[in-house]
Amino acid sequence: MSLIDAENMARTLDAQDVLAPLRQRFDIPADVTYFDGNSLGPLTLRSREVLHHTIEHEWRERLIRSWDEEWLAMPARVGNMIAPLIGAAPDTVISCDNTSINLHKALMAAVGLRPGRTEIVIDINNFPTDIYIAQSVADQMGLSLIAVPAQEIIGAISERTAVVTATHVDYRSAQILDAAGITTAAHSHGALMVWDLAHTAGAVPFDATVLNIDFAVGCGYKYLNGGPGAPAYIYVAPRLLQESGQTLQGWWAHEAPFDFDLSFRPAPGIARFLTGTATVLSMKSLEAALDIFSETNIEAIRAKSVGLTGFFIGLFDEYLAGKGFTLESPRASESRGSHVALGFAGGKALVQHMSARGVIADFRPPDLMRFGMAPLYNSYGDIVKLVEHLVAP
Ligand SMILES: Cc1ncc(COP(=O)(O)O)c(C=O)c1O
Repeated sequence: MSLIDAENMARTLDAQDVLAPLRQRFDIPADVTYFDGNSLGPLTLRSREVLHHTIEHEWRERLIRSWDEEWLAMPARVGNMIAPLIGAAPDTVISCDNTSINLHKALMAAVGLRPGRTEIVIDINNFPTDIYIAQSVADQMGLSLIAVPAQEIIGAISERTAVVTATHVDYRSAQILDAAGITTAAHSHGALMVWDLAHTAGAVPFDATVLNIDFAVGCGYKYLNGGPGAPAYIYVAPRLLQESGQTLQGWWAHEAPFDFDLSFRPAPGIARFLTGTATVLSMKSLEAALDIFSETNIEAIRAKSVGLTGFFIGLFDEYLAGKGFTLESPRASESRGSHVALGFAGGKALVQHMSARGVIADFRPPDLMRFGMAPLYNSYGDIVKLVEHLVAP
């Protein structure tokens, strides 16, 4: 297939794409082809509009009155918008803080529920913040951190394990981990399971309820398009909520924050996982961006994600394999998240070179180029353009 054939095929696929109209909801500069939605989603028109309204009306005019009128309820409201994207029941997800802080809360809660156990098991290839946070929890609680490759997690779980934690879609390779197998193994040894869904929510299906997981955390600024520094979220299984405590129990976690009572009484529901004041502007942007998910469903999103990444891998085989590029993501679509990673010795310079020409991807040392393919705004035509730039930078 020549690149002309690829262009023709892309035109046909784009014409059949049911999600194509959603691209209009994003304000991506005309001279940019964007493949970094797995790190920072682009600006939605709705976020711009809502942020403008929040600043001019809710903040400037309504001032402190906006807390009662609008803002206090936002963490729960936004949590309930994220819940269906990860298969969570209403009122089991709340939006707050960042993923690192929420992971700390979840791990501490899990360890608190399993007294006497001595180990935390983690995927050694997890995103570094997850490793650092798990290490800090282990150090604080006098536990050992057992870090093993994903395929060895199940074998590393034992009666000593308090909690197992892993990221569902590997941030480098996009490998989808066996959520059912790992969760079941954790439970069969009496351990709890915390999933990081940073590269899952908004791109890859996940069913917290069916999988019967215990806790999950994830980012608001990747496939959820909440904007730079958008708040993260935390999920707690309803069966654990009443008995779960968390160690960052600030006033927003209190049953009645505005009683200003000096003794702490945890909120009855998921609000007990809050800590302090919500970051209103960031959360407004996230809430606005999440609107788009009400116009589609995760099956359509997943189908297009598989279509885009598969189309790219087909072109990789034809144009890039054997020319210094290696495929570092799974070929099997059922094992692949929504980005594709290529190894290339000069990857850093190439990513920078392409970025200067408006084709934006990212690089992770030592030699990995990552191309995020976001079904809400990327097209098959974008992918042909990407391959053209990789073939002849
Ligand atoms: C798997 C994973 N977890 C966590 C984070 C970041 O967490 P935080 O929101 O605390 O910066 C990232 C960022 O890329 C990530 O890929």
